[in-house]
Amino acid sequence: MAGIRLPPEDTDVSQIRQPLTADLISDDDRSIAADSWSIKSDYGSTLDEDQRHADASEALAARHRAASDYSSDKEEPDAETISSMLGFQSYWDTAYADELTNFREHGHAGEVWFGADVMEMVASWTKGLCVDVVQKQVQNHHDDNNSELGSEGERDLAAWTVLDVGTGNGLLLQELAKQGFSDLTGTDYSEGAIDLAQSLAERDGFASIKFLVDDILETRLDKKFHLVTDKGTLDAIGLHPDGPVKRIMYWESISRLVAPGGLVIITSCNNTKDELMQEVENFNQSKAISSQETDTPAESDACTNPKIFSYVDHIRTYPTFMFGGSVGSRVTTVAFVRS
Ligand SMILES: C[S@@+](CC[C@H](N)C(=O)[O-])C[C@H]1O[C@@H](n2cnc3c(N)ncnc32)[C@H](O)[C@@H]1O
Repeated sequence: MAGIRLPPEDTDVSQIRQPLTADLISDDDRSIAADSWSIKSDYGSTLDEDQRHADASEALAARHRAASDYSSDKEEPDAETISSMLGFQSYWDTAYADELTNFREHGHAGEVWFGADVMEMVASWTKGLCVDVVQKQVQNHHDDNNSELGSEGERDLAAWTVLDVGTGNGLLLQELAKQGFSDLTGTDYSEGAIDLAQSLAERDGFASIKFLVDDILETRLDKKFHLVTDKGTLDAIGLHPDGPVKRIMYWESISRLVAPGGLVIITSCNNTKDELMQEVENFNQSKAISSQETDTPAESDACTNPKIFSYVDHIRTYPTFMFGGSVGSRVTTVAFVRS
């Protein structure tokens, strides 16, 4: 379970509501994450929970502005400013309790984060990327002893072990199943999310997808996966007042969960591709430094191969728009390969 569970009322929501979308300045590749729920209307989504969406949209806008300040080396943002109810498990437990009721009473699947179009695009792009990666690794097979995915037996997508962290209603896994993946596991720290995801999977004919309650920051999973996906979970984790520390814990966990040669694919409305790449680079550097400090032969392996994760590709086909003279998109999806 999450290490810090402050009740949502500890968060001064009035503060995080102040920033306006107009405060968000975009650069060329900036994902203007003004609100994941306004993405819902742009991309099409399924739920009509206006107040929750409005609250969260404002929280995400506040976080985005704070993140911009933080990444440009200005003063550290006030922790209260960047905190949000979306960073707390209590928020998600309440949200999924509502969604479960909605499902039982009306058969609704719940929120499709960033919209159905984005979800489908992520799934089909992921499939294409995995096929490409396997083809490349098969070509390099004889030179590449470090990759589990290079073996003949794992050419088929069905052989990929897939983990979706913070799976919510698990619909991304259903989309990945439609693309040909079949060894699928979803985890979420909210029991209600897992109940909902399991119920939906059974209803929709995907009963073989496995779902487990698990906190990614203190994961109890002890296996490695060829593919780890995250749609909106790192965003939520980063919204906790201790977001910067929790994000480091997140990458620690992810580095243990992705198999050598495997991929992690992050979809975010709160960070740009460049910000995610910088975060990964910072993580790589911190791991390289800590392994240089420990003088054991096994750990000094990182000296010769310091990058735990390397950028592979990102989705280039999301709709863009002009804002403040710059081009932006509201969501970004970036893939990294594990060394
Ligand atoms: C924005 S929602 C996205 C849900 C789902 N990935 C989707 O795209 O619909 C964020 C999800 O992350 C989950 N979550 C947040 N922090 C988590 C943590 N530390 N461990 C596991 N799940 C977490 C929440 O319960 C929630 O389901």
